[in-house]
Amino acid sequence: MASEIKNRECAVLKFEGKEVELPVVTGTEGDKALDIRALRSETGLVTIDPGFVNTASCRSQITYIDGERGILRYRGIPIEELVKKSTFVDVAYLLVHGTLPTAQERLDFSSMLNLNSLIHEDMRRFFDHFPQGAHPMHILSTMINAMAAFYPNVDINTTTANIEQSCARVISIVRTIAAFAYKKSIGEPIVYPRHDLSYCANFLNMMFDSPVRPYHISPETVRLLNVLFILHADHEQNCSTSAVRVIGSAQVNLYATISAGISALSGPLHGGANQAVIEQLKIIHKDGDVNKFINMAKDKNSPFRLMGFGHRVYKSYDPRAAIIRKECENYLNRIGSSDPLLETARKLEDAALKDPYFIERSLYPNVDFYTGILYRAMGIPENMFTVMFALARLPGWVAHWREMIGDSTKIVRPRQLYIGRTLQEIGDELESRSSTFLL
Ligand code: ACO
Repeated sequence: MASEIKNRECAVLKFEGKEVELPVVTGTEGDKALDIRALRSETGLVTIDPGFVNTASCRSQITYIDGERGILRYRGIPIEELVKKSTFVDVAYLLVHGTLPTAQERLDFSSMLNLNSLIHEDMRRFFDHFPQGAHPMHILSTMINAMAAFYPNVDINTTTANIEQSCARVISIVRTIAAFAYKKSIGEPIVYPRHDLSYCANFLNMMFDSPVRPYHISPETVRLLNVLFILHADHEQNCSTSAVRVIGSAQVNLYATISAGISALSGPLHGGANQAVIEQLKIIHKDGDVNKFINMAKDKNSPFRLMGFGHRVYKSYDPRAAIIRKECENYLNRIGSSDPLLETARKLEDAALKDPYFIERSLYPNVDFYTGILYRAMGIPENMFTVMFALARLPGWVAHWREMIGDSTKIVRPRQLYIGRTLQEIGDELESRSSTFLL
């Protein structure tokens, strides 16, 4: 099993006449980190790092990113290889179990996903009580949280078999809930999952089949959905995965933990960006003046940002965006369709990549920039875009939850630097006021 390398290197911190040695640990790809676990006990100091920009919150064997070189690998395998040679179910298995499945393991895993694809019939009634127009991300996080009431025994003290089943259940059921929520929102009868269909084909069928308009499952659309899901399947300690690890560290059950991940993902600075990109592209397309929006994004007095641009870790072209851009162009060509928003997106990208503001800050299109255009071409409605992201990210969240519970991690409980008032006393005036109130 790969693990960090403890070497003799250390950093020396001088503080108040004392010298403290802080060990340097090296990851398997050569990244170095300062181990500050003894810092507070030896110096009384804590560190401040808002947004955890410089903090490795854990050690992980799941996903490797090199943001400078635009590299993304799951369990050591480049995403470019995975999109060519595997399916989303293979990748889910890889993330959760550490290796790609053998033929038998793939069969067993697929059959476990199939066996756990139905939601409890009583949960179906919940859909009736959400208001018309409720955002499907809110429905999804609520329904996943409710699963703990229907399928108990998913805390970390349960058996391995229970954990296996619960992980497969949540990866599988999330599709069913997402498709049911969509059917409910358009007033159509729900379509149940089918055991004869693959993971992605099943989802498309539940979304688009209807008693009066049978859905033709196109192999090309299924392939594309596999590609998109693989590219979204994990991204190490992003906001929603960190939420999963933080909530999970309190030994909360798996479903509540995943529900927290879904809530975090819904924000426009995270997974919600894929919907926000399309909304923004529509406005820019209608206006026609790309440079006006580039200037707005650069204006520090304006809250406007180019959605789908920039990333905390990537300081080069997001490798997922590079694949999605190509897929987008090819898919639209193949289905003989065009989308004016693709042309607007290309113009925006070209203008931004030539602009010193974006160059100096290393701002490139991220995974969300072209994704929505593909989802539109596949017939996925805009308010479902972030739900698609959530379905794809499920294996990543599950893998991180499992890694965390197997790592005897401490409860996550950061420190703070208190900057409020020093000791205050309650004055006589308040004392007399409260006694009047009590009388
Ligand atoms: N448009 C204009 N300026 C931007 C953008 C953008 N999209 N992104 C970053 N900047 C600027 C910031 O204003 C800042 O400028 P400054 O140094 O002059 O103050 C600089 O670039 C650094 O940006 P930060 O916000 O400090 O970078 P951070 O790593 O905290 O944020 C984030 C990353 C949230 C992704 C940011 O780039 C952003 O808001 N992008 C748009 C939303 C988006 O696409 N989110 C999806 C991200 S991918 C994902 O979560 C799946």
